[in-house]
Amino acid sequence: METSIQNLNDQFAIANHLTFKEGPGGLPMAEINNAHASARVALQGGHVVSFQPHGQKPVLWVSQLARYEPGKALRGGIPVCWPWFGPHPSDPSKPAHGFARTMMWSVAKTEIAANGATRIRLSLADDAATRELWPHAFLLQLQLTVGPELQVDLVARNTGQEIWSYTGALHSYFQVGDVEQIAIHGLDGRTYVDSIDAKQRKVQEGPITIGAEVDRIYIDTTDECAIDDPSLGRCIFIAKSGSSSTVVWNPWIEKSRRMSDFGDEEYIGMVCIETANADGDVIALARGHEHRTTAVIRVNTANC
Ligand code: BG6
Repeated sequence: METSIQNLNDQFAIANHLTFKEGPGGLPMAEINNAHASARVALQGGHVVSFQPHGQKPVLWVSQLARYEPGKALRGGIPVCWPWFGPHPSDPSKPAHGFARTMMWSVAKTEIAANGATRIRLSLADDAATRELWPHAFLLQLQLTVGPELQVDLVARNTGQEIWSYTGALHSYFQVGDVEQIAIHGLDGRTYVDSIDAKQRKVQEGPITIGAEVDRIYIDTTDECAIDDPSLGRCIFIAKSGSSSTVVWNPWIEKSRRMSDFGDEEYIGMVCIETANADGDVIALARGHEHRTTAVIRVNTANC
């Protein structure tokens, strides 16, 4: 498959909207800049690396130590975790969060959408490398619509004969001014699986605040979340569909130190709110069927 920058631009560039460039580490990137916002997308992983509405600070967080290397997961932005969330359920030698975030995706289509937003659709299908890790036939399509808000649609289709199931997440990392000052709304009263406390089930009381490591899967929730960030004077809203679990993650001090692609102090400036299909939110697809998971991210400089 030809993915040279020249070919990509010949086929898919859109004047005043979208161009392809070689990014850090030689990774091909789609660079979007329109009347509303700018964004960058690495074709490896179908990974949104940045989203910034004009006049706003960057919405997504990326580590200063992120590795832009072929086959490596990139720390920050929106990794696509698929077809399993977290460690592989039975084989710890397989990559955490599946393989979609490290495989090279193809560009299927680019277009100008309603209200001058820019849309790019990427695809990833099974091949020998994916079947070695996961023995199923699939087509994944990732549609990114960059306008005043960022919409991420991940559509998984079963192109084989047998039924199969998956878990996953749009693992969004958000930039915040000071994680100890934020409040995350939208999950009050919800039950969560506490991954750092023996997977105990607990109930959220009030907004989430962060003053220690947090790694939780909120279950049976389709609600919009909002990050109230007084230090940056803004609120980030994350709406979703096709997902009934939401992951909230901040590694805090010790875990930050253990991760080689995460600066020791960087936990202060980020939080993950992940539009997930995790824990019991397992998606089973019969032959020819598909499932769409959508996240819509927008920023408001007024109060939450
Ligand atoms: C989160 C998980 O979704 O991703 C955490 O809940 C995990 O347990 C984190 O540490 C980062 O995972 P990775 O594989 O990108 O280091």
